[in-house]
Amino acid sequence: MQILGIESSCDETAAAVVRDGHEILSSVVSSQFDVHGKYGGVVPELASREHLRAVTAVVRQAMEQARCQWGDLSAVAVTRGPGLVGSLLVGMTYAKAICFARKLPLIGVNHIEGHIHAVAMEAGERLEFPALALVVSGGHTHLFEMSAGFSYRLLGKTRDDAAGEAYDKVAKLLGYNYPGGPVLDQLAVFGNPKAVRFPMAKMKGNALDFSFSGLKTAVLRWVQAHEMEAEIAARKALLRTNPSPGVDEWRKLTPQRTLDLIASFQQTVIQELLTRAEAAAEEIGARSLVVSGGVACNAGLRSAALGARIPYPVFFPAPALSTDNAAMIAAAAYPKLRNGEFSDYSMKAQAGLVLA
Ligand code: KG4
Ligand code: ZN
Repeated sequence: MQILGIESSCDETAAAVVRDGHEILSSVVSSQFDVHGKYGGVVPELASREHLRAVTAVVRQAMEQARCQWGDLSAVAVTRGPGLVGSLLVGMTYAKAICFARKLPLIGVNHIEGHIHAVAMEAGERLEFPALALVVSGGHTHLFEMSAGFSYRLLGKTRDDAAGEAYDKVAKLLGYNYPGGPVLDQLAVFGNPKAVRFPMAKMKGNALDFSFSGLKTAVLRWVQAHEMEAEIAARKALLRTNPSPGVDEWRKLTPQRTLDLIASFQQTVIQELLTRAEAAAEEIGARSLVVSGGVACNAGLRSAALGARIPYPVFFPAPALSTDNAAMIAAAAYPKLRNGEFSDYSMKAQAGLVLA
């Protein structure tokens, strides 16, 4: 059974064809980094317009690369949320039109469930339940208990910024480009993670919730206290001539003190994520830990999680499947296709998290 997946929830227009829920025949992702880079974050109106421009070519390319005809498809899956409503609408309307014209079943997929399936499709039978899923991206920092048959229970979430958002905001503050995660991750290896002591967030109420706004403010205070205006201005000047510089170019404009700051920030984020994930895993008696979403690309997080002394296996998706893509959406739709769980054309875009 082949499913065409379409994803347009944020700033990536993506399409993929996946066979039997795990075999990726094609996966095409068109990113809008150059459009949003100079604003330091995603501008929703621009994102919708770029999706409109890209969607036809991206879907066509995914079908061609998979050598797939419309008649070979069993269904079309599309992200219905959470995400930017204007962006979601582009992918959803496109998917509905294909289904209407080609008489194909339509399957709406939750974006977060997609991120979890990015791991599940590779891990296969090695994934034991109950599993703990830590979904960390630009829009989400959520902990779910995942039971066999892919049903979910929310255990904790961020009360303010998502982890990826914290990376993006700190990068912007320091004069680096969007998205900030990859840049700071690459620079962090050159710094001393113990140089600056940032406090861990203390949560009242649900101890499995996260908070990153205090850390972001602590970085701001540190920057204000250390006269960094000139170096930040130099980085912003580079961005005006080159929207996405490489790590070598950034290093030349980053003094050791700032590398130490970045490494310390990253260390604190990793500690926040793993401390709560380990507590949640213990609480539910997890038999595996799944980490997914854009921040799962983070080299520091990967080595800390894979090196942790914990009694259950840890699964990360391949880097290309960590950030937004449509293969994960097609994969998440496969169990729904088998169960006959289809959506109708009244399906609406959902900005917030609804797991059903
Ligand atoms: O999953 P994703 O592509 O989109 C959302 O659903 O948000 O995640 C994008 C987020 C951005 O905030 C980006 O800065 C972050 O993931 N990210 C990283 C890394 N690569 C991407 N954060 C930390 N380290 C990375 N290597
Ligand atoms: Zn995502």
